Amino acid sequence: MHIARTISEMRVALRSRRVLNHTVGLVPTMGALHDGHRSLLQAARARCDIVAASIFVNPLQFGPNEDFARYPRTFEADCRMLEAERVDVLFAPSAEEIYPAGASTVICVEGVRDRLDGASRPGHFDGVATIVAKLFHIVQPEIAFFGQKDAAQVAVLRRMVRDLNLPVELAVCPTVREADGLAMSSRNRYLSPDERRQALVLSRALQTAETLARRGESNAARLLDAMRKIVAAEPAVKIDYMEIVDAHTLLPVEDTQAGALVAVAAHVGATRLIDNVLLPPVV
Ligand code: PAF
Repeated sequence: MHIARTISEMRVALRSRRVLNHTVGLVPTMGALHDGHRSLLQAARARCDIVAASIFVNPLQFGPNEDFARYPRTFEADCRMLEAERVDVLFAPSAEEIYPAGASTVICVEGVRDRLDGASRPGHFDGVATIVAKLFHIVQPEIAFFGQKDAAQVAVLRRMVRDLNLPVELAVCPTVREADGLAMSSRNRYLSPDERRQALVLSRALQTAETLARRGESNAARLLDAMRKIVAAEPAVKIDYMEIVDAHTLLPVEDTQAGALVAVAAHVGATRLIDNVLLPPVV
């Protein structure tokens, strides 16, 4: 695997590998890789001739009181996984390479950027959209792979790609869960054993919504009520948001028959976790 530290090195590495009709797949990450990332790498390997990954803990998407400084940085272990999944080129730039002094252009996906995580983390999705657009320009992938776990991020990026006519397909891969249901996240490693157990109410609440919907309940208020009762069993879990929304606009829906995104974010101790399920349309 070639590791490129600069934008020009990355462009040269891809140019020398890309031949006519080759498909380049990009898996953008912030490192601290887990099996959720592995599934994205495998999806990219299955569909693309050249697989590029990036590791960049993007300062622009962290608020002043968030975990940028302590975000896990596990470069050697990450490289082992990338090698094992046969990644061709890794882009691992410095912050100065990506945001040289005076950089002042930010991509703001109006409306969607203020919903769900965007409401609790002002500016977060401007940071995400900006880095992803930059990565798309640097790598020029035909397909880019993202996890469904970050459902609001997916909505923001889909809108950005559409609005800016970016020539890239977004491939969204299912959330990968631990055996007990906890959605995999780089932030799970912050959890104490007690917190990890408490955090299970989130996936349990989502599963309940899924089961009730499958049995015919489509009233969003009633689904949310059932979920809240489950989360209330763990008073240490503090809900940030729990919403049922349209997966594209992220606006609340009252009825889920046309399909909906059930999304939750909560603080478990000092750790903020997110999770979601997609309810399919009733046919
Ligand atoms: O999902 C993530 O890990 C990040 O938000 C991303 C897409 C790599 C942008 O920094």
